[in-house]
Amino acid sequence: MTEQDTFTKVDRDAFTHEHLLGIETLSAEEINIILDLADYYADRLDDRAFKPNILQDQIVLTLFFEDSTRTRTSFEMAAKRLGADVVNIDLRTSSLSKGESLTDTIHTLHSMLRPDAIVVRHSEYGAPSFISSLVNCPVINAGDSWHEHPTQALLDALTMRRQFGDIEGKKVAICGDISHSRVAASNMILLSKLGAEVHIVAPPVLMPEKLPEGCATEQIKKFDNIEAGIKDCDVVMMLRNQMERMQAGLIKSEREFFEEYGLTKERLALAKDDAIVMHPGPMNRGVEIADDVADDPKHSMILEQVRNGVPTRMAVMDILMKENT
Ligand code: ASP
Ligand code: CP
Repeated sequence: MTEQDTFTKVDRDAFTHEHLLGIETLSAEEINIILDLADYYADRLDDRAFKPNILQDQIVLTLFFEDSTRTRTSFEMAAKRLGADVVNIDLRTSSLSKGESLTDTIHTLHSMLRPDAIVVRHSEYGAPSFISSLVNCPVINAGDSWHEHPTQALLDALTMRRQFGDIEGKKVAICGDISHSRVAASNMILLSKLGAEVHIVAPPVLMPEKLPEGCATEQIKKFDNIEAGIKDCDVVMMLRNQMERMQAGLIKSEREFFEEYGLTKERLALAKDDAIVMHPGPMNRGVEIADDVADDPKHSMILEQVRNGVPTRMAVMDILMKENT
């Protein structure tokens, strides 16, 4: 296919889901449909005149019940690049504080705005799925508790694919607070489905007993030693400790955590020479990652990941909102 063909010929109808609630229910083919389109949009991101306007006259509602810098902004940018209007609700100043229920809040906003898609982040596991049962438009999960953060895993996969060409057979280490991280969960599912060898690296207290539903479990290996886990890897993905969901006392101190599990130059040297360093952000420098690794222009892809958030979310909205276009 030529590049222009990607846009017109990508088989949006082969993507059969009404919502994007997680990676768990997606097939490898459906993941690749999103990534092909995201790649097309990524190639055109710097061209400010590129405005396909396929979502003209449509409304995207973003509902963030938890804080966000990257996800919320990139959904807004992505929707605007496709011609949609965006309504962001600040739920900290909403009437939830007066005792209104989540259900009544959703019914109210849905009735008032008639959105064509809703993007939702919530601290409750399964909240996006619950909201999808209340509305008649696509719901996109922007992160729910420790469950899933599907668009993060998709943008991470796009970043790897643009760097290496293919994900199958690549060795990817995901290191840190695996237990409480929705980024780790969605990435384990996606990368194992696409045939990567996934090393999950964590202290025993932050290593889940069970892998998330939907993982190709034979592709995933557990390590409690970071040196062994990142050895010969193509990708080293670091995670922030999710203190907002962690029981007190699991981690002794940030300094000790960094000494045992932080990514330093010396440890990174154990990975492949051309290994890339990733982090979903926000980073806690000096806890899970050293400054000079985070800012290393040869290996760090952290800002590239952020950038790839926009085309990835353009692709997701293009595909899910196709019925309306
Ligand atoms: N921003 C990502 C999330 O919301 C990762 C993190 O916060 O550590 O899951
Ligand atoms: N990676 C990520 O989801 O970042 P935000 O929490 O800033 O949206």
